[in-house]
Amino acid sequence: MASDSITKKITSIREKIADADYRYYVLADPDIDDYKYDLLFKELEDLERQYPELITEDSPTQRVSGVPTKTFKTVEHRMPMLSLSNSYNFEELNDFDIRIRNILGNEKYEYVCELKFDGIAVSLIYSDSRLVSAATRGDGFKGDEITQNIRTIKSIPLVTKDSSIKNFEVRGEVFIRKEDFLMINEQQEQKGGKIFANARNTAAGTLKLKDSKTVASRPLNFFAYYIFTEEKKLSTHVSGIELLKKIKIPVNNLYTVAKSIDEVKQFCDNIELQRDGLPYEIDGVVVKVNSLAQQELLGSVSRSPRWAIAYKFKAKETVTKLKGIILQVGRTGAVTPVADLQPVFLAGSTISRATLHNFDEIKRKDIREGDYVKIEKGGDVIPKVTEVLLDKRQKDAKPFSIPKNCPVCGSELMKPDEEVYYYCMNYECPAQMIGRFTHFVGRDAMEIEGLGESILETFILSGYLKDVADIYILKDHREELMQLERFGEKSIDNILLAIEGSKQKPFDKVLFGLGIRHVGERVAKVLAKSFNSYASLSAASEEEIRATNEIGPKIAESVHSYLSNEKNKFLIDRLIKAGLNFESRPTESRSTANSSFSGKTFVLTGTLNNYKREEAQDLIENGGGKVSSSVSKKTDYVLAGADAGSKLEKAKTLGVKVIDEDEFHKMISQ
Ligand code: IVH
Repeated sequence: MASDSITKKITSIREKIADADYRYYVLADPDIDDYKYDLLFKELEDLERQYPELITEDSPTQRVSGVPTKTFKTVEHRMPMLSLSNSYNFEELNDFDIRIRNILGNEKYEYVCELKFDGIAVSLIYSDSRLVSAATRGDGFKGDEITQNIRTIKSIPLVTKDSSIKNFEVRGEVFIRKEDFLMINEQQEQKGGKIFANARNTAAGTLKLKDSKTVASRPLNFFAYYIFTEEKKLSTHVSGIELLKKIKIPVNNLYTVAKSIDEVKQFCDNIELQRDGLPYEIDGVVVKVNSLAQQELLGSVSRSPRWAIAYKFKAKETVTKLKGIILQVGRTGAVTPVADLQPVFLAGSTISRATLHNFDEIKRKDIREGDYVKIEKGGDVIPKVTEVLLDKRQKDAKPFSIPKNCPVCGSELMKPDEEVYYYCMNYECPAQMIGRFTHFVGRDAMEIEGLGESILETFILSGYLKDVADIYILKDHREELMQLERFGEKSIDNILLAIEGSKQKPFDKVLFGLGIRHVGERVAKVLAKSFNSYASLSAASEEEIRATNEIGPKIAESVHSYLSNEKNKFLIDRLIKAGLNFESRPTESRSTANSSFSGKTFVLTGTLNNYKREEAQDLIENGGGKVSSSVSKKTDYVLAGADAGSKLEKAKTLGVKVIDEDEFHKMISQ
């Protein structure tokens, strides 16, 4: 039997974990590190194993249920979950304001402006301080009970601690952050799973999964925008938001009280400017009358309240005609389909191409040439085709058939069993060659300026370039190259100079430039740092490579097989002889923990005068710091160059220290 002290101990660890979750997932300001957190969690698991009678539903160990759901129960909402009427311009906002004024007469009123999160609306019921039920919006009256899945979201407390309010309903939006969405799709792509069109669909799909273990592996987030309770008399919407904050339910801090519709408009403009820099997707601003008494007076028409309106930003989605499907062959031989679209203007630019991912996706969505398709600009700017408008399809539209041959060299395509891509297996396929060369000379690899795609093509077709090592013997053909059409002495000399200069590039850039499958910039850096030289990397076994931090089995296999291949060994020998770096310089491998950078998180924004972004990043990382892409409370410094935008704004709002290039330079010299 468990003693009182064991019960107390268990309660105290659970509270510590709940507290750490709150600080990490809601405040983004953790006060214990992952290691300590894992220790706490393990201690709790051990105790619960020893005293199973003490396991309760609200224990952090019980977030993920071991039993998959068979079907989702339908539950009726206590009050209907309404939708919002939309407005698309400031005139419509004026009309909304006039309607309100007409009904409220002489009464004073103010608005609350919030972000309109592009996620999935859910309702959470807390009873006796415990999360007992969660449901989707459904048709507004009845939704699906998805409690098991909602429980996996770590920012949502399973139990609240404030004793002044124990029974209440929360409504809000479940969403996935932009960078998490990209990561999920990358993982889906790797395992040949379904590619999600956008973060919202991913969140929707995830909430409907039957196995909450998979749900738990997907980083879902939540922002509450509404609380209802009979235990407290609230007079304004904002006091509800403040109450939510107080009981540690996550709310978004970018809301404001506006005294007039003009102030509402200012907020809308301001948020639209910040939109792309926000770490999550929004599609507008929601404007609500702040006073709850006035809300009641205004009531609702059909399914939308009269006291609120959504101000929607310009569409990031549109419809256009798919003129054809283009097949591209990359440097690895992978054949990828690209949509050739009737040009259309969408969110700031004209689009005529969009990714179709792979052949499986074309089949899954049944995309056919000549179709009208929906295209969308997601968080990652690359437009995608998300849907086919079947009612607009021509009768004679033919289903897409997977090509048997490489569209460039004609050789037969092959598909490895465990992959989604079809490959051209001809190493000498011109498309693959161009791909390998452009990758090698690219900005993130050897950075040889002047060797653009068309020049490479000329040099390849004239027989001067067969593999990337030939780049370094171009100087032996200087006179001949000058005879080529379009080239003069100066342009050739500039290219040769850039080629010589590239020999200074560090080992990790060379490694990345080789284009080994699965070796991206990050992996190349890790390998260069861990193995220090080509000699030791090529001497390592597959197991040894796999034992490196951050290196998975797929990468290890690919690196090992690349380095064991005779052709590749010969190529590398020639590159070594040409004078490229196949060893890390001491400064790169030394963990020169610069005391001002060590353990600090930086966000870079704007244009720097004296450093390239990658150089600044390397300096920070070599000094033991981290570089992150978005500003949060965890950010220590925002390094702001010229024309810094929303990240700088965000830093100011959050009170994060902003430094300029001079201060950065001083930190380096320290
Ligand atoms: S208030 C009656 N606030 O927009 C009030 N909704 O069409 C209804 N949404 O289904 C909700 N952000 O999913 C409200 N800050 C916000 C919101 C928000 C996103 C969604 C919500 C709702 C839809 C309304």
